[in-house]
Amino acid sequence: MNDVYEVVKVPAPVLKQQADIIGTVDGAIEKQLSKMLETMYASKGVGLAANQVGILNRALVMDVTQQGEERGQAIYMINPEIIWESEERSTYQEGCLSIPQQYADIERPASVRVKYLDEKGAAHELLTNAEENLLLNHCVQHEIDHLNGRLFIDYLSSIRRNMMVKKVQKLVKQDQHVL
Ligand code: NI
Repeated sequence: MNDVYEVVKVPAPVLKQQADIIGTVDGAIEKQLSKMLETMYASKGVGLAANQVGILNRALVMDVTQQGEERGQAIYMINPEIIWESEERSTYQEGCLSIPQQYADIERPASVRVKYLDEKGAAHELLTNAEENLLLNHCVQHEIDHLNGRLFIDYLSSIRRNMMVKKVQKLVKQDQHVL
């Protein structure tokens, strides 16, 4: 059994908070990222941001290439920043490990350029393109939103948002181990 974090669910305040810049990329951060990745795989998610495990630093993990039980290419991002976004938009039905079993079509820029550091502190850029990889385009923007205290339900009407939060609270109450 791998060591995993507990995934925080709405309406936890930590999900609405801004995460802090990581000043030094060290072994502790690398350990955090690898434990976040194990948590993400255990929860069958494609992305996970630090806020979702109750840590307020700018770290996220993604793997949009996994297939069933098979792991794909994991991406670790530290201090990710969107430095360009397209006017063109794309729509994808998003979900979130912090908002289990709730989904909604979310519109975002169809292409973004993201600057980030990897787990060793090396600088990289990722250019997404919704036509080539719709999931990756939405996933990276969804996870960066988390670091800014923003959830996909924040793009919905308050009525719809409150309904989803209530449903999650009910699910959590019924089953402490809800994914
Ligand atoms: Ni999420």
